[in-house]
Amino acid sequence: MADTLSQAAPTTISEDETRTYDPASDVVEQANVTAYMHEKGFKTFDELYTWSIENSEAFWTDMANRLEWYTPWEKVLDDSEAPFYKWFTGAQFNIIHNAVDRHLKTWRRNKQALIWEGEDGSYRTFSYLAVNREISKFANILKSMGVQQGDIVSIYLPRIPELMFAMLACAKIGAAHSVIYGGFSVEALAERMTDAQSKVLITADGGWLRGKIVPLKQTANEAMARTPNVQTCIVVKRTGQDVSMESGRDYWYHELLTLPIASPKCETVPVDAEHPLYILYTSGTTGKPKGVLHVHAGYAVGISATFNMTFDIKEEDRWWCAADPGWVTGHSYIVYAPLIEGATSFMYEGAPNYPYPNRWWALIEKYSINILYTAPTAIRGLMRFGDAWPNRHDLSSLRLLGSVGEPINPEAWRWYHKVIGKEQCPIMDTWWQTETGSFMITPNPTTPLKPGSGTRAFLGIIADVVDETGKSLGANEDGLLVIKKPWPSMMRTILHNPERYANQYWKSEPAGMYTAGDSARKDEDGYFWVIGRIDDVIKVSGYRLGTAEVESALVSHSSVAEAAVIGLDHEVKGTAIHAFVILREGKEGNSALEEELKAHVGHEMGPIAKPEKISIVTTLPKTRSGKIMRRVLKAQALGQDPGDVSTLE
Ligand code: WTA
Repeated sequence: MADTLSQAAPTTISEDETRTYDPASDVVEQANVTAYMHEKGFKTFDELYTWSIENSEAFWTDMANRLEWYTPWEKVLDDSEAPFYKWFTGAQFNIIHNAVDRHLKTWRRNKQALIWEGEDGSYRTFSYLAVNREISKFANILKSMGVQQGDIVSIYLPRIPELMFAMLACAKIGAAHSVIYGGFSVEALAERMTDAQSKVLITADGGWLRGKIVPLKQTANEAMARTPNVQTCIVVKRTGQDVSMESGRDYWYHELLTLPIASPKCETVPVDAEHPLYILYTSGTTGKPKGVLHVHAGYAVGISATFNMTFDIKEEDRWWCAADPGWVTGHSYIVYAPLIEGATSFMYEGAPNYPYPNRWWALIEKYSINILYTAPTAIRGLMRFGDAWPNRHDLSSLRLLGSVGEPINPEAWRWYHKVIGKEQCPIMDTWWQTETGSFMITPNPTTPLKPGSGTRAFLGIIADVVDETGKSLGANEDGLLVIKKPWPSMMRTILHNPERYANQYWKSEPAGMYTAGDSARKDEDGYFWVIGRIDDVIKVSGYRLGTAEVESALVSHSSVAEAAVIGLDHEVKGTAIHAFVILREGKEGNSALEEELKAHVGHEMGPIAKPEKISIVTTLPKTRSGKIMRRVLKAQALGQDPGDVSTLE
């Protein structure tokens, strides 16, 4: 069966590349954004948008008024220390009050907040009341472990409900969380725990992926050996294999839950609007990953507004964001925004094609999912298996689709639209970043769509394409993607490195606006087309990796003297890593060593960072100041002219 189905080729869709997909009139009529437009007295979305950018504080005030505040703000935007902007200053707030507590006063207390399915088919659901109980117990355990306001708790868990509960528990007591993606490995974990100076780590014995155990506790043990600051480790039992536990440091979560400290009652702590909510590490141009800081109030306002208007969430919807909570997409649109909006979220633990390539489609049918939000790499990966897999399933519950993480190629867009959405579901191609917290460029269900374009800026957001002097470029000219005004869910700083935040995002050319690090163009309709990163960030399967991190993992191997990595196009991953390596004296290159180096990167960084290809070389193209010219390497790898090499040593 599997073989016959996997041989069926995907639909070939050869439509006119420039066709626009207009929304159906009933979709437009029922959209949340249409209701807001009428409420504000406008006739078209364009009028609403123009008002929202000319009166952005009034717009964000409307959005803030959708939430509950312990005490109101004095100022919507405080720009006195720009670019360290502050929002809703003077207010007392807690994101948990909005994500959980306020729903407990209404009928939603018995609504399903989370439906979870494990890769092994196990199944758990939690009402809002149940979520409250779980996070209160977790919060009390953390308090008894000495976690205080202002501490940063590291979390390294598989995609299980406890990941959500651990995050929410931290926020409830005013501690910040730092979630490290479960696909990362020893060095990546150790580096992030050290930078955050975490005293507590929450992990699991393991997680399930493609029927195999990902040995998280084993990796955590190795990482903790490099991180003396971690004094306590809470371990959730998921896979049940033997793991080594250090007495006095490691505690089983299920055992802690039986102790009197784990009371299901815990007050949510009111915090300042600008109180840290979380750190999320992301890759940048140089060296170490950056700890991006987000805060309680502005973040809550931005994510809930975008979620409501873009994904048009309705009370009866079942929402599935198939990202990992370990990345920003999961933070904003699995954990926080759906709960703030009182939605029902679905979470799935494992691989999309396990045990068969229909797993996702079967889940959509089984749970009657209404909105699916995923990444182009997943769509391309599943498209490869052909139409027969999705066609076996009833996908008619779907009404809206979404894409995020990298530009979606029009072919994958059309397949997603036709074969998954049956031409009934508008696709929300949302452009944003870890740093922006919420969508910046995105359609809403009323927007005419062009496959591959994120269309236009969200309400209150002024996006543009400019040259290095900050001058707006004309239609179809390539330039830098910038945001010209601050917005509430923006990052506040980089942990321990405010200068890097100010310089990299606001003061570098073009100065005075937020530079995203992407190149883009706008077409004659003002639609944005993102081309890709202009820095040394590589998006492998939508995951953001820095070339510097992968290079540093390579040179930590005893045979490697120098390394340079570049990204090359890949059919499913979008981009794959190609590494060039100079060996130490006396070391000999061969295929066994190449495999060993790939495995070494996997061990240090995580499987996603494993180079697709390793080339052992004797020199690397460098500038006279010693900077590796990756552009030249890339041109060579592609057999192209390397262009201007006058600065080459
Ligand atoms: C890329 C992920 C094109 C972009 C939410 C950005 C996209 C980087 C899109 C941020 C999209 C994200 N179309 N490119 N819809 N969404 N990107 O921080 O290069 O993991 O700068 O956040 O992903 O990646 P990050």
